[in-house]
Amino acid sequence: RNMSESGRFNVYITRSDMPDVGVDQLRKECDVKLWEKPSPVPRAEFLKSVAGANAIYCSLSDRIDKELLDAAGPGLKVVSTISVGYDHIDVQECRKRGIKIGYTPDVLTDATAELTLALLLSTSRRLPEAQHEARTGGWVSWAPTWMTGPGLAGSTVGIVGFGRIGQAVARRVKAFNTARILYFNRSERPEAKEIGAEKVGFDELLGQSDFVICCAALVPETKEVFNKSAFDKMKNTAVFVNTSRGGTVDQDALIEALKTNQIRAAGLDVTTPEPLPLDSPLFKLKNCVVLPHIGSASIEARNTMSELTAQNILAALNGKDLPAELK
Ligand code: DGY
Repeated sequence: RNMSESGRFNVYITRSDMPDVGVDQLRKECDVKLWEKPSPVPRAEFLKSVAGANAIYCSLSDRIDKELLDAAGPGLKVVSTISVGYDHIDVQECRKRGIKIGYTPDVLTDATAELTLALLLSTSRRLPEAQHEARTGGWVSWAPTWMTGPGLAGSTVGIVGFGRIGQAVARRVKAFNTARILYFNRSERPEAKEIGAEKVGFDELLGQSDFVICCAALVPETKEVFNKSAFDKMKNTAVFVNTSRGGTVDQDALIEALKTNQIRAAGLDVTTPEPLPLDSPLFKLKNCVVLPHIGSASIEARNTMSELTAQNILAALNGKDLPAELK
């Protein structure tokens, strides 16, 4: 079973600054080895240190593929990620080897929906730009048409991906007295009725929405769905917000759409790559707000995510059902 000499299971954690609560739980029952820095473990180091692990506690910065699973060896029972997204994990390869996958759905839904609204309003009402003006002398008087942007009240909001987070966003958006909430999703969602959201086709959503919000998981079908043709179909006044994964967007096409005012503005919590290089044109555009992937970064959510990540590991190692297993 590749246990350590102490007869305890080996857990490898890919960075030093995972919230204490989960790590402490693991330390009670397992031998914990971690990358000693508060940054993602470099790939070569990861491949070396993961050897003999029974469990991996990772984040979305760590690619879990065939090579890494080989490096871990046959004692690996579970990969547990402190994220709801799992596009960094080769799910098929884990399945083939009988390795369980733990993730953190639900516990970050509220935090991510809150951030989505914050980003939407920051983008539409131009908060970073306005703060910059206030700090640098651009605020010379109250001015009637200065720093204006579109309001949510009476608008049509389109949500692409209507899972847990998309629905939580819809419920919040509704409180702003929007006229319509549209959604596009593979399947019809029964919850939509009570929320008052209408299922429409992707093109229809793009054409009718004043705000287009991407909450879809990154899977082959959603890769770069926001491409030139999608931006061309949006209103010139549309505000685009993405809090899912950068990979759902053709970023060059987005930059072009922002530069040419094909759309009004974009708010991005996720980009390609991450971190976004400082010389990215996105940082130079006034009509773009970029955040450093902080959707789930409420203190409460991150602590609960870390506990769930640890509990998924302990359950898998003890042969029990995982509290949140990716099936
Ligand atoms: C996730 O959970 O997938 C987010 O991107 C980070 O919390």
